[in-house]
Formats: sequence, C-alpha cells, structure tokens
Amino acid sequence: MQRIIDNSTEALDTYFKDTGAKRILLVGGRSMDLLGIGKYFSGLHERIGIEVVRFSDFKPNPDYTSALSGVKLYKESNCDMVAAVGGGSAMDTAKCIKMYVTMDDSTDYITQKIIPNDIEFFAAPTTAGTGSEATRYAIIYHNGNKVSVTDSSCIPTAVMFDPTALKTLPDYQKKATMLDALCHAIESYWSVHSTEESKAYAADAIKLIFSSMDGYLTNTNAGNSNMLKASNIAGKAINITATTAGHAMCYKLTTKYGLAHGHAAALCVKALFPFMAENTSLCKDERGEEYFKNMLKELAEIMGCDTASSAAESFGTLVDSLGLSAPKAADGDIDILVSSVNVERLKNHPVLLDSDTIRALYKKIVL
Ligand SMILES: [Fe+2]
Repeated sequence: MQRIIDNSTEALDTYFKDTGAKRILLVGGRSMDLLGIGKYFSGLHERIGIEVVRFSDFKPNPDYTSALSGVKLYKESNCDMVAAVGGGSAMDTAKCIKMYVTMDDSTDYITQKIIPNDIEFFAAPTTAGTGSEATRYAIIYHNGNKVSVTDSSCIPTAVMFDPTALKTLPDYQKKATMLDALCHAIESYWSVHSTEESKAYAADAIKLIFSSMDGYLTNTNAGNSNMLKASNIAGKAINITATTAGHAMCYKLTTKYGLAHGHAAALCVKALFPFMAENTSLCKDERGEEYFKNMLKELAEIMGCDTASSAAESFGTLVDSLGLSAPKAADGDIDILVSSVNVERLKNHPVLLDSDTIRALYKKIVL
C-alpha cells in the first residue's frame, strides 16, 4: 500500500528517518531547486544526516542509457534508496533505476526478467496528470524503440503532493495534464479489464477532477492539491486496467503534431466517446452489451450527466472550452495515423474498432 506523506518538513523528516536510509539517489530535473521539495532535499543532510546524491542527466523521453548512468551513480555512491521529483520522465527514469540496481549488470537489463526488489522509493509528482507515481509501468526508449518496464515494485512506496509545484506550470501544460488524468479515469472505467476496485478509483478520480477543476485552473492551493490527488487515484485505476483506445490512438498525434500527451489523448476520447455511446452493439466486453450500456450510464452519472451521449458531449465541450483544438492534417496523414495504432493495446477497448472505424475516427480527430 502506497503511503501518502504530509507536505511538511516535520512529516517528511520523520518518514525519511524511519526508512533507515543513509544515502538517497534523487532523480529530478534542475528546476527542482526552485520548488519547496527541492529546497527540502537541499537541507536534508544537515538536518537529519541523510546524504542526497542528485541525478538530473535524463531527457524528456527518457532513454535506456540515462537509466544506466543513474544505476552507475546509485552503485558508485552506495545509495540505499531512490527518490523522484518531477513529471513522467523523472518517474519513469527513477523506476527503471530502482528495478535495475538489483539485476544482473553483466548483461542488458532490457532482455532480463524483472526481479522485484524492496528498495524504498519516494515520489513527489510535479504535474497532475500522468499518475505515474501510482502505476507499475515505466516507459523507456531503447535504441529508439519504446519499451515498457512493468513490475509492481516499480510503484513508489511513498508519495508526497506539493501543490505549489503546479503554480509555475504553463497553462497549456496544466490543461493537458488534467485531461490526461481524466482520460485515464474514463478509459479505466470502460476498460474490459475493469474491476469493482478499479471502477471505484476511476469514479473517485473523475469526481475529484471535476470538483477541483476551477481551483486548479486558477492555481489555488486546494485546487492544485486535489488535482494531484485525483491524478494519483486515476493512476491507481489504470494500474489495474491499463488504458484503452484513447491512448492507443493518441501517440502519433503527439509526435506528428507536437501536441501534449494529455491534449492528444483527450482529442481521441472526444471522438471515441460518442461513437461508443451510439454503437453499444459493437461491445466486445465479455460481460455483455447490457453490462456495457449500464456501465456507460454509470459513467455518465459520475460525470453529472443523464445519458452516455450527453456525457460524451459534455466531455467534448470541456476539451473545446479549454481551447485544446484539433491539429490540421496534410494529405496522407490519415493513412499514417491509422497505421500507427498498436493493435495489441486496442484489446483493452470495450467496442470493436476495425481499421475503417479507426480511419473514420481520425477524420473526426484532425481538421
Ligand atoms: Fe496518459
């Protein structure tokens, strides 16, 4: 069970003392120094005698060689704990370092079976969106290919939410990360792998995202704090179910048009949601079409709507009202987008999506 540590020097000091750690590898970008949590770590050695070894040598799409550098630093510095401060890239790098440090370093980590370990792992997310601090997945690029490192011991053992970390984020990033969290919760709710537990997490996340949205977008401490919690809860939901077609379809939109991940995912969910509401007969969830219709109705109610169609419309209106518009496609783009979709990942999706349907959906997603 992941512990949530209060955002106070006293609570953090007590937590770090209780871990028994002597030297922490702290994974985080250089901008961390401007944040409260960065300043906290700067004074840790003087205050309670725990040394902090900084590792900032990773990129926005973290690659395997960065993780190797982190593993080397961890071992050479005799670290005994990992901490991550940042967004998805810092988290994913820290997760890989955490897993790799106890694996066989005489051969490539990518091809080895992951061996779980119980190294203490603290995380302080600085965006409210990825929920990476709550999931067992890390994405890393190896020779240009995206590789997923998956193990339950990737999940940080303790997290701390610092709402002030969100205050300096650009508006676009705040909107996109919030929509990423909302897409995680919605996609998890309708996933064929949903369980009572995952649906409870997803429902809680959706309600908290809607209730804290105004405060978050106007940068109140309460709004930012609650959005961090919502993103974490949505992360717990996708940790059980994984994401669905919204995420399977969105990746090429980010690389091709430079959209933020959450923006791209939201455009895909905006097109998928009404299609699903109108085509329940295409349900491929083993629980059947009646289950599927009821599930969509529940999802609508969680979103404060009467019907699945009105919930889909409301989601689209939200994306439009945030000013997150569709990219303009050139000739041939639709073919590229259709061929980019990872068919494996569509298996989690509850309605059948053949290539003609995906093509029709992309035509709605782009201009
Ligand atoms: Fe996402």
